[in-house]
Amino acid sequence: MDIATTPTNPEGNPEIADAAPTPHDPPVIRREDYTPYPWLIPATKLVFDLGVNSTKVTATLSVERNPDAGASAELRLNGDSLKADAVLLDGETATCWEMDEADLVITLPGEAHEVTIETTIDPSANTTLMGLYASNGMLCTQCEAEGFRRITFFPDRPDVLSTYTVRMEGPKDQFPVLLCNGNNTASGEGEDGMHWAEWHDPWPKPSYLFALVAGDLAANSDTFTTMNGREVELNVWVRAEDLPRTDHAVESLKKSMKWDEETFGREYDLDLYNIVAVSDFNMGAMENKGLNVFNTKYVLADIDTATDGDFDAVEGVIAHEYFHNWSGNRITCRDWFQLSLKEGFTVLRDQLFSQDMQGEAVKRIEDVRILRAAQFPEDAGPLAHPIRPDSYREISNFYTATVYNKGAEVIRMMRTMAGTEKFRLGTDLYFDRHDGEAATCEDFVTAIEDGAGLELAQFRRWYRQAGTPRVEVSQELKDGGLALTLKQTVPDTPGQDAKGAMPIPLRVAVHCRETGAIGEEQLIVLTLDEETFILPLSGPVPVLSINRGFTAPVVIERDLERDDLVFLAASDDDPFARYEAMQELAVNHLVAAASGDLDEAGRAAGKTAICDAVRAVVTDSELDDAMRGELMTLPSETYLFEAMASGMRKADPGAIHNEREQLKTAIGVTLKRELESLYARVVDIAFDDPAGRGARKVKSIIAGIFAASDPERAAIMAARQFDEAGNMTDRQGALMVLCGLQTPARDEKLKAFFDRYQGNDLVIDKWFTLQAFSLHPDVIDQVNELASHPDFTMKNPNRVRSLYMAFAGNPQGFHAIDGAGYRMIADLILALDPINPQTAARFVPALGRWRRIESVRAGLMKAQLERISEAEGLSRDTFEQVTRSLG
Ligand code: ARG
Ligand code: ZN
Repeated sequence: MDIATTPTNPEGNPEIADAAPTPHDPPVIRREDYTPYPWLIPATKLVFDLGVNSTKVTATLSVERNPDAGASAELRLNGDSLKADAVLLDGETATCWEMDEADLVITLPGEAHEVTIETTIDPSANTTLMGLYASNGMLCTQCEAEGFRRITFFPDRPDVLSTYTVRMEGPKDQFPVLLCNGNNTASGEGEDGMHWAEWHDPWPKPSYLFALVAGDLAANSDTFTTMNGREVELNVWVRAEDLPRTDHAVESLKKSMKWDEETFGREYDLDLYNIVAVSDFNMGAMENKGLNVFNTKYVLADIDTATDGDFDAVEGVIAHEYFHNWSGNRITCRDWFQLSLKEGFTVLRDQLFSQDMQGEAVKRIEDVRILRAAQFPEDAGPLAHPIRPDSYREISNFYTATVYNKGAEVIRMMRTMAGTEKFRLGTDLYFDRHDGEAATCEDFVTAIEDGAGLELAQFRRWYRQAGTPRVEVSQELKDGGLALTLKQTVPDTPGQDAKGAMPIPLRVAVHCRETGAIGEEQLIVLTLDEETFILPLSGPVPVLSINRGFTAPVVIERDLERDDLVFLAASDDDPFARYEAMQELAVNHLVAAASGDLDEAGRAAGKTAICDAVRAVVTDSELDDAMRGELMTLPSETYLFEAMASGMRKADPGAIHNEREQLKTAIGVTLKRELESLYARVVDIAFDDPAGRGARKVKSIIAGIFAASDPERAAIMAARQFDEAGNMTDRQGALMVLCGLQTPARDEKLKAFFDRYQGNDLVIDKWFTLQAFSLHPDVIDQVNELASHPDFTMKNPNRVRSLYMAFAGNPQGFHAIDGAGYRMIADLILALDPINPQTAARFVPALGRWRRIESVRAGLMKAQLERISEAEGLSRDTFEQVTRSLG
C-alpha cells in the first residue's frame, strides 16, 4: 500500500495534466444512480505496438444499441490522462466527437458501428501502476478498477462485457514473452528483430479483467486435468533467477483447482492458465482472465527466504485469484458498489480452502485476528461503510477490510444458518442462474435464499448497515435451564443512525465448571433487539460458551467471572472459544489496568490469573503446538485500543503498551521454568516434521516473552536461534526479537541478514519491516535513517509498505507522545501522493483513528490530517480519505 518522493505529474505529460486537472472536489458517485450503458460492445480488437517509453494502442470496438437501455446517440468512452491521436467511425476519419473532461464522447448516427481509436502512452512514466506500466524492463497492466481507461478510451465499467482479440508486437530481445488473456492463436517474427503474438479470449469480459504482459520471463510449467478431462497448461512466469522459488505457487494452483471442483463444483474453462509475478504492484494480485498478475510477494517462496506465514499467504492468494475465475469473472459485478459480491465471496472461498489445507481451528483464529485488527477499527471510525457502499469518490478507496473480510463473514453467516450442504445448493443456483452476467449482491442473496431455502429478508440489513453490532449477554437460572437474554445494538456510523436489528447466528453451549461437563452445541439466531433463549444445563455451575467458531462478526459483551474464563480457556471443546477466553482474560485485565481501574492488589490478581491460564496452556500435553501458539498470543495493541475505546472512554496507546509489556514480563518471570522446558522440547523438532510449524511458532513467542522479562537472556537465545536457523521462519523470528533489544547482537545480526540477502527484494523488505516494527525505543530515528538507505525507494510499493506500513502498525513508534510518528506518516502521504495516489491513500486510515484516541494524541493526529488536506493538488484518492477522516 505505498510510495515515493519526487513530486512529478504521474503521467509525465504537462499538456494532458492541463487538459484534465485533478478536480478539487471530485464528484460523488452514488449506487442509486445506476443506469445501464446504452450501447453493447460485442467485440473489441486491440493492437499494441509495444515500447517501454511509447506504446501505440489501436482499439476497434464493434458497437450496437443496447435494447435493454434507454436510447442515446452518445457513446461515452472513459479516458484518464489520454489523448486520441485518431478517431475513426466505420473506417473513416470521424469528426462527430469531442472531449468531455477526460472522456471522449462520440455522437453515433446509427444503430451499429465500428469505432477505432488510436492512443499513445508512455509506460515508463506511469508511476501510479494503474493501466500499462513498466516494471524492471517488462511491461504489464493493472486494470481493476479503472485502469483500462489509462490504456484506451472505452466504456470502463464492469457491466459492459466484450470479447477481446489482441495483437501485440514488440522487439523480441526486450520482450521475448508476449502474453494476454485467453489463448495464443498465432505468433510470428517481423522485421528488424520484432515479433508478434495474437491472443483471443473466448469469454466475454469487462475491461477491468484485461491484461497484457511483455517481458523476459521464464515459466515453471505443469498441467492440470479437470474433472471432465480437460488438460490445462499451467505456467508461473518469473524472472529466470526466481524460478527455483516457484514450486509452491504451482502446487498451490493445482490444489486450488482440485478443491474448487470438489467443494463448489467449479471447473476451469480455458486450456491455459498463466500467472506472472511482478515486483512493482499496488495490491496483492489480480484475477485477469487466464492471465493473473501477481505481486512477487505472493508467488515466490522457498525455505531460505520465506516464512511459514509467507508460504500460507502464497497458497491463499493463488487460491483467491483462481477462485475469482467463477466468483468474479464468469459472474462479475454490475457496478463497483457490488464489489463485495466477488470479493467477499472469494475471500470466504479462499478461507475455507486454507482451513482445509492448514487446519480449521488455527486458520479460523487467524482470520478473526485479521478481522479484528483491520476491519473492526474501520467499522468504528470515520471511514466506516457497509459491505455494499452507497457512494464513493474514488473506488480504489473501497478495496477495504470491510468489503473483503466482513463481506466474507456475512456470507459465512448464511452458510452457518443454511448448513454446508444447503449452502452449496444456493451457490450452485447462483452460478447457474447468473453465469455470463454482471450481477448484484441482491442477486446473490436471492440465489442463496432460493437455492438453500433460507429466508433472508431481514438479513439483507448486513449489506446496508455499517458498524460492528454489539451483543450484550445476561443470564439467569430458570425452570431448570439457563435463560439467556441477548440484547443487540448496531452503533451509529457516518451517515447512518437508528439502525434495525440484524439476524445474528450464534453457536452456543452451556458447560459446567464444577463437573467439567461439556454441553451440547446448538445454533441460535438473534433477530430482535432483545431476545431470551432457554438453554439446557449440563451441570450445577453453568458456564456459557458463545459465538463459538466466531459464527457472527460481532462484539460479545459479557461479564464473566475470571474463574469462568480460566475454565473456558482450559477446557472448552471449541478451539476458537478457548482462544477467545484467553483473549478476554488478557483484554479485561489490560484495559482495566490501562484505564487506572485497578489497585495494586487487583493488578497482581489479574496477572496471577493470566499466568495460571498461560501455564495450563504451556503444559497441556494434549494441545498441538500450533494451537498452543495461538493460545499464548496476547491480544494486539490495536485490538486493545478498540476494547478500551468504548462509550466515553478513549484509548491510551502509551498506557496499553506499558501494561502489555508488563504482563509479558510477568508471564516470563512467573513461567520461566515451564517456558524453558517447552522451548527445550520444541527446539529439537525437525523442520519437516509435521509438528515443525507449531514448534517454530512457539519458539518465537517464547523468545518474545523473554525479551520482556529477561532481555539479556533473550538476546543470547535469539542470537543463537538466528545463527542456527536453517529456515526463514526461525531466522526472522530471532531477528525480530533482537531488533527490539539494545544489544550489540542487534546490529551484528541485522548486518549479517542484509549481507546474506542483498539483492533479494522480498527479503530486504523484511529487513526494513523488522526494524520499522520493532520495540526498540529509538524506532523513529531508525525509520528516518532507513528512509535514506540506498535500497529505499518511493517508487516500489512493497518497499514503501515494508518501511512505513510496518511503522504505522507499530503502536509504540506511531503513537509517540510528541507526534513525531504522525508527522512522519503525513510527510510520507504528501510525498507519495503525486507518485502513487492509490498507495498513498492507504496510509490515511492510520491517522483517521484519532477520534478513539486520548485527547493529546488525537489533537496531534488531527493536525496532521489538516495539514495534508491543505496541500495543493491532492489526488482524488487521498482527498477523499482525508476529507472523510476529518468529517
Ligand atoms: N481483484 C483484486 C483481488 O483479488 C484486487 C485488485 C484491486 N486493485 C486495485 N488497484 N484496486 O483481490
Ligand atoms: Zn479478490
